[in-house]
Amino acid sequence: MSKNILTPSEAAAKFEDVINSQFKRIEKMKSSADFVDYSAVDTIVIGICGGDGIGPAITAESERVLKAILSDKVSKGKIVFKEIDGLTLENRLSCMKPIPDDVLAELKSCHVILKGPTTTPDASAGTPNIESANVAMRRELDLFANVRPVSIPSEGIDWTFFRENTEGAYAVGSLGVNLEGLAIDFTVTTDEGTERIARLAYEFAKANNKKRVSIVTKANVIKKTDGKFLEICKRISEEYPEIKTDDWYIDIMTAKLLDENRRRDFEVMVLPNLYGDIITDEAAELQGGVGTAGSANIGKRYAMFEAIHGSAPRMVKEGRAKYADPSSMLRASAMLLRHIGYANEGNRLDKALDICMFEEKKLTVTGREDGATGREFSDYVISVLERI
Ligand code: IPM
Ligand code: MG
Repeated sequence: MSKNILTPSEAAAKFEDVINSQFKRIEKMKSSADFVDYSAVDTIVIGICGGDGIGPAITAESERVLKAILSDKVSKGKIVFKEIDGLTLENRLSCMKPIPDDVLAELKSCHVILKGPTTTPDASAGTPNIESANVAMRRELDLFANVRPVSIPSEGIDWTFFRENTEGAYAVGSLGVNLEGLAIDFTVTTDEGTERIARLAYEFAKANNKKRVSIVTKANVIKKTDGKFLEICKRISEEYPEIKTDDWYIDIMTAKLLDENRRRDFEVMVLPNLYGDIITDEAAELQGGVGTAGSANIGKRYAMFEAIHGSAPRMVKEGRAKYADPSSMLRASAMLLRHIGYANEGNRLDKALDICMFEEKKLTVTGREDGATGREFSDYVISVLERI
């Protein structure tokens, strides 16, 4: 794809557009309604959106488990499942949009969404460089908090990462500019956007009896945007004097997650988008692989739950989709259940997963023929759910 090379004055005009669109976003954030109270919703609509690669396979397994857990609520009409097809790479490329319009309308007709991984187009891989469906969905549905828990019970590790999800290097990631011999991207931090992620992290800490919140930035070098993130998080921390706050630079925090003497002391971490993306893959790898970690993308009106990993097209090419591990999507499903007010059901699902993955380990999913299939593993989870 040929690059659109701008002159300095054209680039400056684009920069002005970016600034204006961010001011509009700030106004929208200020006027947004509060979080949905699911206890007051008669019928909760759960959208099921398979995505690409191994996405449809692992999403279908999680849907089966969710339906087993929620069967009485479905029969009473309290919960409705809605299948949303069409968020495939093929469809996105054919309309050259990160999310086709009809798919976006369907997503917006749900309360919460369980979404399989979607392949991100990448110019270096020869696909048109359209924006990631994930990034677009987080922005379109204003899913500002990416909550990613990682726990290794045998080591006393229980971390929850609060990754800011709509700003930072991702806010206008597709609106960077190319000039002759020069490329510039934009990184954005707003007061409003930082306050809401910081507050959510502290509220979570308070509600879950966590003693410590760590703010992670690179504010010594990225002085404006990370500087603002750190300053605002610290300001919010003053509202929570009972919680210990400390701040770290992302490089040393990345190292500390490997420090067996110190790492169990971390509890809640709040951090800008890109650092949150990177460090949560590292954390998930320590837990047993990115295939084991789920995440919640939380906004005030909508919420979307997904794996933290990608669509693994190679597994599909090699005929291994049925061996893909659904546990990331099952962890995400547990978070979905808690989010819509079914805390017991969500906690039971996590318990069943702990039994299957760490305690009994009757089946292991390896992603290959030598391991169990995703279907066998989810059947195992359902059988454990029946006895706990
Ligand atoms: C994630 C993924 C996404 C991200 C990709 C698919 C755009 O890596 O959810 O962590 O970078 O946020
Ligand atoms: Mg990632």
